[in-house]
Amino acid sequence: MITVPEFKTRKQQDQKISMITCYDASFARVLAESPIDALLVGDSSVMTMQGYDSTVHATPESIEFFVASVARGAAGKKFIVADMPFLVTRKSREHLVDVAGRFLRAGAHAVKIEGIHGNEDGVRHLVESGIPVMGHLGLTPQFANAFGGMKVQAKNVAEQEQLLADARAFEAAGAFSLVLECIPGGIAGRVTEALTIPTIGIGAGTVTDGQVLVLQDMLGMNPGFKPKFLRHYAKLHEVLTDAFTRYHQDVMQGQFPSAKETYQSDLKAVSPAPNDGPALKEVYSS
Ligand code: KIV
Repeated sequence: MITVPEFKTRKQQDQKISMITCYDASFARVLAESPIDALLVGDSSVMTMQGYDSTVHATPESIEFFVASVARGAAGKKFIVADMPFLVTRKSREHLVDVAGRFLRAGAHAVKIEGIHGNEDGVRHLVESGIPVMGHLGLTPQFANAFGGMKVQAKNVAEQEQLLADARAFEAAGAFSLVLECIPGGIAGRVTEALTIPTIGIGAGTVTDGQVLVLQDMLGMNPGFKPKFLRHYAKLHEVLTDAFTRYHQDVMQGQFPSAKETYQSDLKAVSPAPNDGPALKEVYSS
């Protein structure tokens, strides 16, 4: 399992880092057997798993629930990062520390925080308390209302200078890595070069130190969602629709289950009951 210090070593040795979102034990079990480095229990979980239209609906309880599920499935084999839900960093230091502590006790190894403005002290305090922090800049979905929607960020020079300053501020506060979301490849490259901590891109081009994708998106579960940066590594929507349709047809036509898929009962006399005559015990054979 990759560790916090190894994130930096990977960058120094020019080795990439792979991360993918995960929200349940079933997928975590599969991912535990894969070479993927890290699992992100992102706040996109409330959209993917709970059907909300925005990540602002994530709560400490929902993320804690998903972290615990993923940790049970991953069985100690994967580095797990938990997203800080909307507004948790803004209430108080006590609340932030309490929520981060809950996530680590649920099985996370680090937390991810969107945006650095006003969060510098919180990040520093978590890091000094033994809670590793991954930063997140660029298109930070918790700020979608402020951005006027889910739009590519840092497109002009002023925004790019600001992004670079924010990335440096995350590093200075002690973050061990930084997610860069939906920004032009050129500025992602500048940030990556400027930092000693690794950058992990999603829609941030080719030169970041690692990549992250949302699991359901990269598996093609929602074929209508195909932003420029997304690659479908499977056509799971088609595969699943086909499986569900064939199952339905088999049930309708009485072809599922078959005799081979049916338990047979094999009734055998086991021992005569002393007073009540012979007793029968049912023995099920598979
Ligand atoms: O919640 C999430 O899925 C994320 C990734 C997009 C980085 O934060």
